[in-house]
Amino acid sequence: MSTSSSDASQHGLWSKRTAFMFAAIGSAVGLGNIWKFPYMTGENGGAAFVLVYLACVVLIGLPIMMAEIVLGRRGRHSPVHTMRRLAEQDGHSTNWQAIGWLGMLAGVMILSFYVVISGWTAAYLMDSLFNTFQGFDQASAEGHFNRLVDSPWRLLAWHTLMVVLVAWVILRGVNRGIEQATTVLIPSLFALLLLLVGYAALYGDFGRGLTYMFAFDYAQITPEVALKAMGQAFFSLSIGMGAIMVYGAYLPRQFSIPEAAGVVVTADVLVAILMGVALFPIVFASSMEPGAGPGLIFQTLVIAFGQMPGGWLVGILFFALTLIAAWTSAISLLEPTVSWLVDSRGMRRRTATLGSSAVIWVVGLGTVVSFNVGSDWTLYGRNFFEWMDYLTSNVMLPIGGILIAIYAGWMVKRSVLEEQADLGNGLLFKSWLWLVRLLVPTAVFLILLHGFGWV
Ligand code: TRP
Repeated sequence: MSTSSSDASQHGLWSKRTAFMFAAIGSAVGLGNIWKFPYMTGENGGAAFVLVYLACVVLIGLPIMMAEIVLGRRGRHSPVHTMRRLAEQDGHSTNWQAIGWLGMLAGVMILSFYVVISGWTAAYLMDSLFNTFQGFDQASAEGHFNRLVDSPWRLLAWHTLMVVLVAWVILRGVNRGIEQATTVLIPSLFALLLLLVGYAALYGDFGRGLTYMFAFDYAQITPEVALKAMGQAFFSLSIGMGAIMVYGAYLPRQFSIPEAAGVVVTADVLVAILMGVALFPIVFASSMEPGAGPGLIFQTLVIAFGQMPGGWLVGILFFALTLIAAWTSAISLLEPTVSWLVDSRGMRRRTATLGSSAVIWVVGLGTVVSFNVGSDWTLYGRNFFEWMDYLTSNVMLPIGGILIAIYAGWMVKRSVLEEQADLGNGLLFKSWLWLVRLLVPTAVFLILLHGFGWV
């Protein structure tokens, strides 16, 4: 058995510090920030949701992200393999590899709906190139959105395109695929974002967006809102399933983990908040409902794009940005599974990628029909898409997060942890240790219980 200091991964290592940052930011910044955060905020009372979300990001999300990178970099393999190796080295039951299994399953489930929603983005990018939204009002925007989601065939075509895009990057491997793609795409994403925010600052009503997002009322923080806000924090940061763990497995030893995690978390929160602040004024100005659900950005923004000066170009920029964000996140949802197939099945990367993409494509059909023919095929009031979303964000990721925190906090020898966490051995290290040992597991557990209405 090799030791924890073995410094190679058979999949490759990031060639630069920025490569890890771009890949991890690519993973975190995605539909969760641009599509889900605004509509969840709208559905759950605005500022109350935002506040719990921010608290969860700082107190729960950041420590778990660090723990994931620490474990990943020590294990140097797919999450299943990493956890098995670490458990062996640390003298614990190899059942800890369950963290990897649960994560892989969650990854497949998330990706199966993620590719479908990303497909909407691709469809809208195409529409905006053709200047389709010119002169749109509320009725035409809703009609346009419904025509897309009502058609299983159109959704299928776009969802297939997204599966192909994701598979293409993953197939090329860690350096020639993920690293190259994100190194080009993430700086472009931030450039587009700056342009858009600049535009919104000039023409939009930032003040109203800020009020909606930050003027909060304690009474709106119900256990259910807290559970959803926590789920959103996990989803948006990509934590609790091993995506960050596997990216950590490719991180060279000399790079600082707290610094990397800090940058990723900050970028992620910034994008979510900016999206909300820019979006809600448009929602109110066009007298639409902030609680419109998953169609929110697609139905509201296009009205604005169809009417504002330069809206044609802004629309193209916006949907290009969203597509990039979705694509670089989707690849991180597949990498744990592909690396596992390569690690433990000895498969070639190509076979592993094609096989797992095919599975994702098939499971994705469930989400394709959830918006049309199968929208009424419900179980306890949720259709297929709603179950996938609910189970992963609100159950599987938090449980994964608790297990990761417990392993890092209690199962790793303190000397090893001190050496691996890059936090020195002073107050910073002690605070982090306290968070992963006590606060994270108990807080997440209590929010889960309350959210289910069990206590
Ligand atoms: N964080 C991404 C988003 O906000 C989605 C995502 C990518 C993800 N990888 C993940 C979510 C791993 C949970 C776990 O869109």
